[in-house]
Amino acid sequence: MSKETKQFVIFGNPVAHSKSPQMHNSGFEKLNYNGIYKKHLLEDGSTIKNTFLKNSYSGANITVPHKEHAYSNADEVRGLAKKIHAVNTYINENGRVIAYNTDAPGFLKAIESFGDIKKVLLLGAGGTAKAIALALQESNIDVTVLNRSEGKLDFFKNEGIKSYSWDNFQEEEYDLIVNSTSAGLKDNNLPCNKELLESVLKSAKYAFDCVYGKLTAFLALAKENGLEIKDGEDMLLYQGVLAFEYFTKTKADDTLVKAMRKGLKSE
Ligand SMILES: NC(=O)c1ccc[n+]([C@@H]2O[C@H](COP(=O)([O-])OP(=O)(O)OC[C@H]3O[C@@H](n4cnc5c(N)ncnc54)[C@H](OP(=O)(O)O)[C@@H]3O)[C@@H](O)[C@H]2O)c1
Repeated sequence: MSKETKQFVIFGNPVAHSKSPQMHNSGFEKLNYNGIYKKHLLEDGSTIKNTFLKNSYSGANITVPHKEHAYSNADEVRGLAKKIHAVNTYINENGRVIAYNTDAPGFLKAIESFGDIKKVLLLGAGGTAKAIALALQESNIDVTVLNRSEGKLDFFKNEGIKSYSWDNFQEEEYDLIVNSTSAGLKDNNLPCNKELLESVLKSAKYAFDCVYGKLTAFLALAKENGLEIKDGEDMLLYQGVLAFEYFTKTKADDTLVKAMRKGLKSE
């Protein structure tokens, strides 16, 4: 590694499972960019800005559980991240830490392949749901949040987003149903009870699961009901591609996206 090699990392805890290094390093290679991307296990999220600067990192991605800390520590937050209150990308701009959220536009890019979507039911109310709900709202797509419990719904209500818990759900008809809960990640659970889910799936056209790399119980049920389905791989890819564009100040073309996807899928 030469002195000019720019260093990038993903901060997380745990971080061992992350595919981001393969994805970004494939992009650097394709572009002949003098950069290297590694994993950085960070235990104390409140130290994120100092750790970033102390190591002279040029850029970073941030994953669970540090996205909120990363937001509040940044020198400047740009774009929709200001409303989401969580960021997944840091850039070093002359010693100032600039933060973005690329999960939100990454999700929008991932659902483009479905075609016209006017109305969405979003299952879950965690960090990912916040990014997705605000991204949809900004695109003038009608979004309703449905969560297991009431506690996390205030954020959405304050943004003028219809939101319900399982107990008080008022069902309508939706084009797309999105699972942004962690049901399906390490288990085979559905994100809500089967009866309710089948009822909304019957009138919908598309189903998207943020979990990637497997056919979750949610996607299997959607498929059974004749919906077009998609897992979270493209969301992961495009949040990475958008971060890569900030890192390298280059617009990613199709061949670069293809190289990053190949990296993502490699061992
Ligand atoms: N593809 C990608 O690029 C990408 C990016 C980000 C995240 N993700 C995935 O998105 C999912 C959510 O991540 P997050 O960061 O938003 O998590 P989070 O902040 O921990 O939120 C989890 C949400 O899931 C709900 N939940 C958990 N277990 C459930 C169950 N068994 N049944 C129903 N609801 C349940 C929780 O409901 P309560 O409020 O009731 O606890 C909460 O609303 C994870 O699977 C993550 O891997 C994917």
